[in-house]
Amino acid sequence: MLQTQEISSYDYQRFRRFLEEACGILLGEGKQYLIVSRLTRLMRDENIVNLSALMGAIERGQPRHLRDAVIDAMTTNETSWFRDVQPFETLQQVVLPEMEKLRGSPLRIWSSACSSGQEPYTISMILSEYCRKTSASRLAASQIIATDISASMLSQAKQAQYENVALGRGLSDDRRKQFFRHEGDSWRVVDEVRNRVSFREQNLLQGFSTLGKFDIIFCRNVLIYFSAERKQDILQRMAQSLNRGGYLFLGASETISGYSDAFELVRTPFSTIYRRKD
Ligand SMILES: C[S@@+](CC[C@H](N)C(=O)[O-])C[C@H]1O[C@@H](n2cnc3c(N)ncnc32)[C@H](O)[C@@H]1O
Repeated sequence: MLQTQEISSYDYQRFRRFLEEACGILLGEGKQYLIVSRLTRLMRDENIVNLSALMGAIERGQPRHLRDAVIDAMTTNETSWFRDVQPFETLQQVVLPEMEKLRGSPLRIWSSACSSGQEPYTISMILSEYCRKTSASRLAASQIIATDISASMLSQAKQAQYENVALGRGLSDDRRKQFFRHEGDSWRVVDEVRNRVSFREQNLLQGFSTLGKFDIIFCRNVLIYFSAERKQDILQRMAQSLNRGGYLFLGASETISGYSDAFELVRTPFSTIYRRKD
């Protein structure tokens, strides 16, 4: 079994460099324990005895799935329904009414690190609620493109099926009744909410202009893992991916301050969001 004290400083730095270049995640000094806790099972299953052998196998590309499996294991996929609540109040009460008035056409929304799907489906639920409340809203036909680097997260997200424990995190009874159907031991997102969302694999370090332009981008709880240079680069490219007047939503502990001047800060009664500067 992999032991923290057996990881040489050389292999640790080698692994850190690989991880940062592959997915942007910065592993701080002294985080050998994270490698042990996240990779022990994978290495046992692959018969890999130590970190040096793991790096060698990744560099040789043998087995082929190893690189992605390591990235998958090292990313944090923590998420929940209506995470932090306030941004979704801002979406429903400030951004959607403004966009409906200004554009009047269906929106393109990007959930850019969607993990197991809670974020894009939450956005879709907000759209359903908004359209019901305002009746005859043209925003019902909006599209949500949900992306993540992790193929296994995307596969879970696409299934739109959640167990009781995952469902309990952030979802009210009322919304569960409206937006889910009980199927066996789990709950499935209803078609109305599911059909607006399409999933794609996308590493934020790589070009994403082929996804097209968006009216709203959610980039929540992922930039925190990246270096200042990566944040600057991603925020710059996200500004270019927004339509005029488009909005960026970040996570509660994230900010553009010091990283980008392509946005203006907008304080709503619920949360802070960022509008693309003209
Ligand atoms: C903590 S979750 C956040 C999920 C959701 N946005 C939320 O706020 O609840 C972070 C997600 O970012 C993804 N991720 C990490 N590095 C990435 C990268 N370079 N490109 C795209 N997604 C990445 C992970 O796979 C993970 O699903």
